[in-house]
Amino acid sequence: MSTETLDFESVPATWTRRHLLGLEELSAEEITVILDRAVLFKQTMAERRRKIPLLVDKTCVNLFFENSTRTRTSFALAARRLGADTVDFSASTSSLSKGETFIDTAKNIEAMGVDVVIVRHRTPGAPQLLAQNLDCSVINAGDGPHEHPTQGLLDIMTIRERRGSVEGLTVAMVGDIAHSRTARSNIWGLKKLGAHVIVCGPSTLVSPRWAEIGVEYSYSLDEILPRVDVLNLLRIQFERQHSSPFPSVREYAHLYAMNRDRMARTKDDILILAPGPINRGVEITPAVADGANSAILEQVTNGVAVRMAVLSLVAGERE
Ligand code: CP
Repeated sequence: MSTETLDFESVPATWTRRHLLGLEELSAEEITVILDRAVLFKQTMAERRRKIPLLVDKTCVNLFFENSTRTRTSFALAARRLGADTVDFSASTSSLSKGETFIDTAKNIEAMGVDVVIVRHRTPGAPQLLAQNLDCSVINAGDGPHEHPTQGLLDIMTIRERRGSVEGLTVAMVGDIAHSRTARSNIWGLKKLGAHVIVCGPSTLVSPRWAEIGVEYSYSLDEILPRVDVLNLLRIQFERQHSSPFPSVREYAHLYAMNRDRMARTKDDILILAPGPINRGVEITPAVADGANSAILEQVTNGVAVRMAVLSLVAGERE
């Protein structure tokens, strides 16, 4: 069916939020509204309908205080495909260097007539703080190790696309769980949609307290491999650590890198995901990253569709 005949012109009554701050606060129904809408937007991209003018007259600003390739670019593309104007804020060349605060910076940008602020910040809770202080919509593009909701959504969209449903699948997040906002958003989203989630990595990066909310934890990738349907391989976030969580990168790779030998011990149809950036040879070898079971670049494609869905829901015309 062509998307010409599908209705995504207005925001459905089931969506009432002005912000997207995290997946922890969303219901399974709200997550499904976003994912179903993203599927439609992906279809428009496949039909090469480059412009879906739902946000004409709206302005979105990328307010990134941390580096980004995928999230920043895909939010800009998503906003433009919806007909919105986009502005890119660069923290390093801004008046933050003259002592202006985070809130004052955001309020000044909002005063120029901005409808949506997309914020990435190293401090957990920064997007919530903006939502409390601004009148426009706020989207969390990653706040420290807390949440990265659109990454969680695009990961879940990719699983749903490949497997039809998330319910009943065993999904393992492997690596630096302690510092991973991607892990947290995936955990909330996947659990709400009925998946069994395992967090796996060195004991310095995986807390047994995950069991308190029904998440299985393991320190051995080799032990969990045979029963996993989806592996999401996380980067070690050295930039968020004060001391090394393991003796050497080589030892980490020996125990946790997904490589050809380990692939031979998985289910044949295991799905390999990674949020990117990937460190080839550390958490994943090139043979696996570029292999038939990998959906890493599909995740990136789905990121544009998910971000179109989120932008159109928080800033679109209500029914
Ligand atoms: N996955 C992700 O957030 O990538 P970027 O840091 O490049 O945006």
